[in-house]
Amino acid sequence: MLKVLVCFLLSSLLFVLLHPITAATSYNVVDFGAKPDGKTDSTHAFLVAWAGACGSVSPATVYVPPGSYLVSRAAFNGQCKNTDITIRIEGTLVAPSDYNVLGSSGYWLTFDGVTGVSIYGGTLDGQGSGLWSCKASGKSCPTGARSLTFMNSKNIVIDGLSSKNSQLYHIVIDSSKDVKVRGVKVTAPGNSPNTDGIHVQSSTAVTIQSSNIKTGDDCISVGPATTNLWVEGIACGPGHGISIGSLGKDVNEAGVQNVTVKTVTFTGTENGLRIKSWARPSNGFVKGVLFEDATMQKSQNPIIIDQNYCPHSEDCPGQVSGVKISQVTYKNIHGTSATEVAVKFDCSSKDPCTGIILEDVNLTYDNQPAESSCTNADGTTSGLIEPTSCL
Ligand SMILES: *[C@@H]1O[C@H](CO)[C@@H](O)[C@H](O)[C@H]1NC(C)=O
Ligand SMILES: *[C@@H]1O[C@H](CO)[C@@H](O)[C@H](O)[C@H]1NC(C)=O
Repeated sequence: MLKVLVCFLLSSLLFVLLHPITAATSYNVVDFGAKPDGKTDSTHAFLVAWAGACGSVSPATVYVPPGSYLVSRAAFNGQCKNTDITIRIEGTLVAPSDYNVLGSSGYWLTFDGVTGVSIYGGTLDGQGSGLWSCKASGKSCPTGARSLTFMNSKNIVIDGLSSKNSQLYHIVIDSSKDVKVRGVKVTAPGNSPNTDGIHVQSSTAVTIQSSNIKTGDDCISVGPATTNLWVEGIACGPGHGISIGSLGKDVNEAGVQNVTVKTVTFTGTENGLRIKSWARPSNGFVKGVLFEDATMQKSQNPIIIDQNYCPHSEDCPGQVSGVKISQVTYKNIHGTSATEVAVKFDCSSKDPCTGIILEDVNLTYDNQPAESSCTNADGTTSGLIEPTSCL
């Protein structure tokens, strides 16, 4: 009898000790009514599963089994009761095919104010083609929605997610900290409007690694107030390249500082490595950027700084950019340009670019000599520089 009691006590103790570690509570969306048929609106089931995981005092998992789930606009909000939530997706989340459902809401799936959330796997299908056609027809259309947004969040992982045909940007990291994006696959047609792959703004310590991005706008775009960004191992194209900017749209704007972009291949892109600012007054800046080990395969503008961005002549004709660009290094950049001018620094006459460094750059144009063009740009070179530097 005593033996049994001791045994029972010991096993109870073991259970109590091990339970929180081994048995993360799992919330399967199908158990809450989600239907993997691609047409039943499963939004409510996803929100209930999230509420369970978010409300759990121990680590929790939201599980999305294989299949296709229609999800209309969904906001997954914090604060949660634990800081270890895994979202394991084996299926596909599909946005409503009628673009009027998301309309001009700006967002499809959002995570706001969460800490310690990791998404593994899964596919997001933004079904953007209807909206793109509407926009192409010149009719008046809603602005659309970004597919996946994290805002006001920290300790986030997005690993192995595929995102296709977003109405607007595919993945957005906004006002967040310590975010790791890796093994992500973005696909949208080369002519789809405003379908940036990954957009980062007002965030710090974001890393984007080992990802493949084919889209109609920037593969990666970096907005104001971004610091300590690390981008490495990206295949980009079709697309508009990797862009810091547009910056300086507003007079008061926080700067971009400490950005590394390493080992990127650009295939048939409109730009390669770009920094872009509006030709408007602004106190914004870009400081401390390293572009290293890039391969260009027929990029139209492999290396470009454009401080005269003024689309549709919106409040900028005759003005110059106030954004100060300094300490930008291009190291070991090679391959082919699809246009004669492979290196273009078109900087502000009011605030010229300073501290530009070119080191081992070899860009060719259709087996002919390529050219460089500099306006208000100052810097130094080392190693082989082809085309001849204009700094
Ligand atoms: C620059 O950012 C990297 C991460 O991308 C970080 O490791 C490094 O400490 C930052 N440097 C400074 C001076 O903050
Ligand atoms: C620059 O690249 C071209 C094309 O890849 C190559 O033929 C050429 O030898 C390179 N120049 C130098 C000096 O390495």
